[in-house]
Amino acid sequence: TAAQAAQERGWQLYLVGGAVRDVLRGMQSPQETEVVLTDIDLVVDGFHQSATVGAGVELATVLQERFAGARLDVHGAFQTAALLWHNDPVFDSLWLDIATARTEFYPYPAANPEVEASSIRQDLYRRDFTINALAIRLTTPRQGKLLDFFGGVLDLQRGWVRVLHANSFIEDPTRIFRAVRFAVRFGFEIEPETERFIRHAIASGVYERSRSLNPRTPALQARLKSELKYLLQASYWPRALRELDRLGALQCLHPQLRLTRELWRRLQLMDRGLRRFENWHHLSHWRMLLEVLLSQVEMGDGEFSRAAVAQQLQLPEETVQRLATLGERCERLQGGLKLARRPSEVVQVLEGEELAGLLLVALGMGRSLRRKVWQYLTEWAHVKPLLNGEDLKQLGYKPGPQFKEMLADIQAGTLDGDFGGSREAAIAFVC
Ligand code: CTP
Repeated sequence: TAAQAAQERGWQLYLVGGAVRDVLRGMQSPQETEVVLTDIDLVVDGFHQSATVGAGVELATVLQERFAGARLDVHGAFQTAALLWHNDPVFDSLWLDIATARTEFYPYPAANPEVEASSIRQDLYRRDFTINALAIRLTTPRQGKLLDFFGGVLDLQRGWVRVLHANSFIEDPTRIFRAVRFAVRFGFEIEPETERFIRHAIASGVYERSRSLNPRTPALQARLKSELKYLLQASYWPRALRELDRLGALQCLHPQLRLTRELWRRLQLMDRGLRRFENWHHLSHWRMLLEVLLSQVEMGDGEFSRAAVAQQLQLPEETVQRLATLGERCERLQGGLKLARRPSEVVQVLEGEELAGLLLVALGMGRSLRRKVWQYLTEWAHVKPLLNGEDLKQLGYKPGPQFKEMLADIQAGTLDGDFGGSREAAIAFVC
C-alpha cells in the first residue's frame, strides 16, 4: 500500500536499515538467523518530484487510513512518522517508521542533526555503519533492487562493523556503543580503522565536550541512555561491557570508569541475585547493572560527581539519590551489622531499608556481612511472628506500649529460634 501510494505520487520508497540487514543475514545463514521483523524503517525519496520533508508523514497517513488500529506519531523536527500496531490481528506488534530521504548536517559535533530533503544515497550515507546503510527499492522500476553504495553486503559476509566516514563517532558518540552492540550481538569484529576512529573520538574528549558545552546535551544523553539500556538488557551484556572497556569507551560515562575485577565481581553478583530471587523481579535489571557501574565512580563533586553523571543520563530521581547517599548508607549499615549477632539484631538494622539500595551496599561488603544481608533479604525479612496482635488480645492483653513491646519480643524470639518454632512455647513466654 505504501509503495503504491508513493508510486502514485511519483516518489520512490525504500526499505532501509536493520530490516534489510537482518533479511540479508537470514539469507546468508538461514539455520542460525531467525528473522522476525518488528521494527521496519522506510524512506521516501522524491526530492526531484517535489516531495517535501513531509512526504513520510503523508504516506503514513495513507497507511493509517487503510489499516485501522495503528497509532500515528509524528516527530516534528525530523519529519518522520511512526506507525505503531500493538497486538494487532494482522501485524501483531509492529513499529513502522517512514522518513523522507534526508541528509543531516550537524551544526556542531554531537548535536542533534538538522534535516533537509535529499536523495536516498545521501540518506544512506548519513547512517552509522555500512551494514545499516543498505536499501531495497519497493517501487517500480527496478522494484526489489538492493542498493549497496558502501560495501555493506561484503561487510555482512566478512563480519565487519565499519563506519562510512571518519567523523561518524565525533558527530554522534552514541555510535561507539552501537558499534559494540552490533559487533557483540552478531559475533562481528569492529573493523580496524573503525576502531581507530572510536579511539580517536574518545581521546579527543567528545563526550566531555558534549557534556559541558553542548546546549543539546540532554538529547545526546537520552540517546546514550537508550543505547546503554539496550546493551545491558541483552543476554550478551558481559561481552559488551568487556568490549567497551577494551576500547576505553566506559570513559564516556565517567573518565575514571574501568571494568576492574572488583566491578566485574559486583556486576556478576547483582546479575545472579536479580535472576535468582523472584521477589526482586520488580527491580529494573538493566538499571541495577548501570547503578553498579556508576557506584564505582568516586562520589566527587561538580560535573563528574556520581550523582551528576546519573542526572545527566536522565536516570530517575530515586536512582540519583541512591547513588548520592550510597557512601553514607554503606557506613551506617556496616557499622550496625558488625555489632548485630542474632537474626533479630540484623533485622533491626536493616528493616525499612529499600531493596535496591541495600543490594548496592551489600555488594561492597565483606563475605560475612554480605551473608547477613542475604539472609535478611531471603529469609528473615519474611518471617512471621508466632503470635500476632490478635493472639495477644485473645490471651487478655490490651493494646498499649507494653503490648507493642511484647509483640517486638515475640518477633525477635521467633527470628532467633527461642521458641523452637512452637506457638505453645511463645504463649508460655508471654504468660
Ligand atoms: N542510526 C544511525 N545512527 C544512530 C542510530 C541509528 O545511523 N545513532 C540509523 C541506522 O542506519 C539504523 C537506523 O538508524 O539502521 C535505525 O536505528 P535503530 O532502530 O536503532 O537500529 P536498527 O539498525 O534497526 O537495529 P536494531 O535491529 O537493533 O533495532
